[in-house]
Amino acid sequence: MGLAVVSCRAQLGVQAPEVAVEVNLGGGLPNVQIVGMAETAVKEARDRVRAALQNAGFRFPDGRLTVNLAPADLPKDGCRFDLAIALGILAASGQVPAARLAGYEFLGELALSGALRPVQGVLPAAIQCGRAGHVLVVPAANAAEAALAPGARALAADSLLAVCQHLREGQGLAEAVADGIGEGSPAPAPGPDLAEVRGQARARRALEVAAAGGHNLLMIGPPGSGKTLLATCLPGILPPLSPSLALEAAAVASIAGLPPRLGATFAEPPFRAPHHTASAVALVGGGSRPRPGEISLAHGGVLFLDELPEWGRAALEVLREPMESGRIVISRAARQAEFPARFQLVAAMNPCPCGHAGDPSGRCRCTGEAIARYRSRLSGPLLDRIDLHVEVPRLPQQVLLAPAGGGEPSQQVRARVVAARGAQLARSGGSNALLAGAALRRHAALAAGERRLLEQAAERLELSARACHRILRVARTIADLDQADAIGQAHLAEAISYRCLDRPAPAAHC
Ligand SMILES: Nc1ncnc2c1ncn2[C@@H]1O[C@H](COP(=O)(O)OP(=O)(O)OP(=O)(O)O)[C@@H](O)[C@H]1O
Ligand SMILES: [Mg+2]
Ligand SMILES: [Zn+2]
Repeated sequence: MGLAVVSCRAQLGVQAPEVAVEVNLGGGLPNVQIVGMAETAVKEARDRVRAALQNAGFRFPDGRLTVNLAPADLPKDGCRFDLAIALGILAASGQVPAARLAGYEFLGELALSGALRPVQGVLPAAIQCGRAGHVLVVPAANAAEAALAPGARALAADSLLAVCQHLREGQGLAEAVADGIGEGSPAPAPGPDLAEVRGQARARRALEVAAAGGHNLLMIGPPGSGKTLLATCLPGILPPLSPSLALEAAAVASIAGLPPRLGATFAEPPFRAPHHTASAVALVGGGSRPRPGEISLAHGGVLFLDELPEWGRAALEVLREPMESGRIVISRAARQAEFPARFQLVAAMNPCPCGHAGDPSGRCRCTGEAIARYRSRLSGPLLDRIDLHVEVPRLPQQVLLAPAGGGEPSQQVRARVVAARGAQLARSGGSNALLAGAALRRHAALAAGERRLLEQAAERLELSARACHRILRVARTIADLDQADAIGQAHLAEAISYRCLDRPAPAAHC
């Protein structure tokens, strides 16, 4: 007969609140009860733990076992509590020394054999376990991921038996180690190289500006002009993630059950390209047990929305809020789950339903009304949040098929991007895309001549105040690429040229 308490962690958004697994072994008819807002997968732990204990050579105690997961108002799901429940039962029945459990936290699913299986969301748990000053015991398959948490100690175990031996003897489990994190600048992200892209000088330039300032980008062009190719080149020219951003991105990947962002991939900006049939929940996250959506999986990196007008309006509308705040809060009856969602949006679309508006051959037969209807599928507020609009015209066959003629390789472009981003970090502590209010006024101040140019453009193009601010941010980035302290006429004029969809929609041209 006895009582034991074992520490573990639940999962709520990117948080991993501590859970105390309390196990009481009392007299009475043999029975096991799991209480404390445990969902089905946790309740099934009863049968797994019983088999695992017996197969590992332990005795499953006779008597009334009550397992309470506290605090009770925190929803608990998944198999991550198995190990803690098993250890609680062993401690309550005197089979492992209860006093030795202090200072440890345990995560892991038990196989019926007593082997430990990996679980999702280990990294957020390891981060918070480290902050609490505890040592985290995890399944060996999760060890490298747990070791990503800076300053945290994690031990890798492959079975319940190995954990019990370690507790008895005070040693035996291996320390989890991260491999090759933060060693210099990572290799450029996988994906095509800009050297493969022919022509499209203007779109290439817009991509570089977008990368340099973290700006959102919309590419408009006919089928086959290279929009998707250009978008997939973006991660290869982005700077590596800062350590804190990389850790957040790795935590989201961990919760979503994606492959852990180990080694060189740790600092690689994520690239997510969901299909336009994706639901709003798949895009922003949600569900009864809140899961991160594509916008959170793209945290720190790129969210690519191809065929933008094909996306449902509902899906695009839900993007607006996180695009401003850089995070998404999912409210559930019991608690709120929050996920980070600071992503760079890259979108692509055709100029009209047939895809050929503006083509010099005149092959587009779409009416002005059809084109206006097509474009109206994009809401104004969403377009307003995209800093750069650029045309990607059809290339002549001789350019596409020429044996040579690819452009500058990604590595060279990336060097300029990294330098420009460095200047922004030193100036304002973040990328230009995040400049707002007083910081925008201070860091993107215009001299009288430049101010006049912007005022004239605003009048001619009927620009909203928001669009003018976007122009200023982009102009600041173009000046940074030029290593100029002040925004000049040429910088501003180029930034204005990237607002083509703000012009009152004429049919043929972007
Ligand atoms: N500028 C280019 N340089 C090199 N290859 C190109 C270029 N444009 C297109 N291609 C090649 O043509 C094919 C189609 O390009 P891509 O998918 O990027 O076009 P797209 O503009 O996205 O078309 P869609 O509107 O149909 O999605 C790809 O295999 C790509 O490699
Ligand atoms: Mg495409
Ligand atoms: Zn058309």
